[in-house]
Amino acid sequence: MLKLLSGEILKKKTECLVVPVCENTEIHDDPAIISLIENARKIKEFKGKKDDSVVFYDPADSKLERILFVGIGNRDKIDADALRRFAGKSVKQLIKKELSEIVLCAPCPEKLDMKDDVLLGALFEGAFLGNHIFDKYKKEKKAKPLKTVSVFTDSKIAKSRRLLPSKIETICKGTLLARDWVSMPSNEKRPDRFVRSMVKAAEKEDLSFSILDEKSLKQNGMGAILAVGAGSRSKPRLLILDYNPFKNKKAPQNKKTYVLVGKGVTFDSGGISLKPSAGMDEMKMDMSGAASVAATLITLARLKHKFRVVGVIPVVENMPSGDATRPGDIIKSYSGKTIEIGNTDAEGRLILIDAMSYAIKMFKPDVMVDMATLTGACVVALGEKIAGVFSTDKQLAKDIVASGEAVAERCWAMPMPDDYKALLKSEFADINNMSSTRYGGAITAALFLSEFVEDTRWAHIDIAGPAYSKKGGDYCGAGGSGFGVRLLVDFLNKM
Ligand code: BES
Ligand code: MG
Ligand code: ZN
Repeated sequence: MLKLLSGEILKKKTECLVVPVCENTEIHDDPAIISLIENARKIKEFKGKKDDSVVFYDPADSKLERILFVGIGNRDKIDADALRRFAGKSVKQLIKKELSEIVLCAPCPEKLDMKDDVLLGALFEGAFLGNHIFDKYKKEKKAKPLKTVSVFTDSKIAKSRRLLPSKIETICKGTLLARDWVSMPSNEKRPDRFVRSMVKAAEKEDLSFSILDEKSLKQNGMGAILAVGAGSRSKPRLLILDYNPFKNKKAPQNKKTYVLVGKGVTFDSGGISLKPSAGMDEMKMDMSGAASVAATLITLARLKHKFRVVGVIPVVENMPSGDATRPGDIIKSYSGKTIEIGNTDAEGRLILIDAMSYAIKMFKPDVMVDMATLTGACVVALGEKIAGVFSTDKQLAKDIVASGEAVAERCWAMPMPDDYKALLKSEFADINNMSSTRYGGAITAALFLSEFVEDTRWAHIDIAGPAYSKKGGDYCGAGGSGFGVRLLVDFLNKM
């Protein structure tokens, strides 16, 4: 749980007070804390350099059990994400010491040229996200997350930001929900089961849902989704999650509808054009877009978001078998366009286009955003921490990149050159699902999607890099990162 705390720091009873300290500069303004830091700086090996740390036990005239001073380096390099990382790392370190409750000391916002809600929000986020442990499949649980993290700040700020901790907690819980789904092994989340798991979580909130099963996918002519799912014993689904605050009321005139589409491949073996075996285990994460979209909708419902948002989530398992779709096969998509299968491993774009055409027809969205672990090429282009944003709508791409900046889920706008569409030509069908060259693979994938969107305002976010991390980061463990939830929530809140 997250809490805000203010008053006299030395009178607080806590297992550990954590104080961030800058090299040379003072970033706190509470005299009691400044004098504690002065003592810490007397220790030779503690200079406030990044990752320096020193612990004082049972400091005199206080109820504090310990004080952990943590160096965060040069003041000029401290931004919101540096505070998230500080909070996350501190929490991880103190979990190992088997503590259950800590207090983080917030720096003074003016001294870091930051707004107080941004500063406190970053500390809360880093702490809450860093406190998550995925150990469901371990018999012996090595560590327990902390029960409570408080952030200590000036009483005026604490009073005006009373609601902040619970809001941050709600949003970050969405990220954790997505993380757990992504980290879950594929044998426990085959399409039907994964859909039921998303529905179960959504039902607890104010969301309506519907599921298209194999039969209704056939009736609707969703040939692309069906083609990808053909090789698997567990058949594909299309899940619709609908958050509509005007459900039982008269909607205002200018109400907008946003659609989010998320790629849900519960395991991507590549199908008949099988992937190399090295790292294939990580393809359990190929449903990260679906996880982030579902978790975003659940979060929006909890936040009582102001306009309608619909999640359209195709869920399939991409497997080779006697029933699997072959390279060279020609399929008919929901839109009516035919597609030649150049490679069965380019499956994400196939399930997305059926979902997107359906979403456009059924919900006539003002804006549609899809999120997908779509291409290895995007990881080659931008690395493992930055997502690619593709849109012909410059403003839309700009807004997404700006939200990414605000929540530290970094995005980079990529080009959509018209002339590259020629690379997707098929001799026999309307389009090929694979480009004739492997160069620019993230771009040609996005261009493929664009062929099915027409004039809807739309952006595609390729999260193949940041959705999953083998090692984890300062406020994320190994496995799913939950990337996209905080991004989409911030983006929609600013619309
Ligand atoms: N799921 C993969 C993309 C991926 C790669 C996600 C690495 C996360 C990490 C996608 O379905 C895929 O296989 N894409 C192919 C496309 C190619 C066959 C045109 C790729 O990127 O190699
Ligand atoms: Mg693939
Ligand atoms: Zn895939």
